[in-house]
Amino acid sequence: MKHLAALVAAVAATFTAGAGICRAADGDPVHGAQIYQRCLACHSLEHNRSGPRHCGLFGRSAASLPDFDYSRAMKASGFTWDEATLDRFLENPLKTVPGTKMAYAGVKKPQERADLIAYLKKATLDPEVCK
Ligand code: HEC
Repeated sequence: MKHLAALVAAVAATFTAGAGICRAADGDPVHGAQIYQRCLACHSLEHNRSGPRHCGLFGRSAASLPDFDYSRAMKASGFTWDEATLDRFLENPLKTVPGTKMAYAGVKKPQERADLIAYLKKATLDPEVCK
């Protein structure tokens, strides 16, 4: 949790400094960090839990971590994780990837998804956390 607080501060600083230049798809990463709390029941950035770790998520093929036991459905999804695929998946995981092991209803509000994705985009590359 100390990590998370520091990260939120760092993200906030980056966001303020970079406003207008490197704004992530209209999402607010600071609010997104709060939404990410919902994911922490099963995920963390740096470790596999009941869900796979999120470090390095962007540009990664779905189900590509060698040390996580994915569902066949996720392996067959053909997704590469970026803003668009995450937006589709996170809106309704069980509908987008029928048979996924991610037993989670999804993040229904588009703005909350945009904020969450903006947060993930930065946090999953954070060199302090994702070594
Ligand atoms: C109830 C536990 C649970 C919750 C809550 C949960 N997930 Fe997952 N997640 C999983 C599991 C299990 C998988 C593996 C799915 C599979 O193999 O079908 C997964 C897979 C994923 C993947 C694919 C990763 C990869 O390596 O291909 C992403 C992205 C993801 N989750 C994001 C999220 C986000 C963001 C949230 C919060 C909004 C969230 N998840 C909430 C359990 C969960």
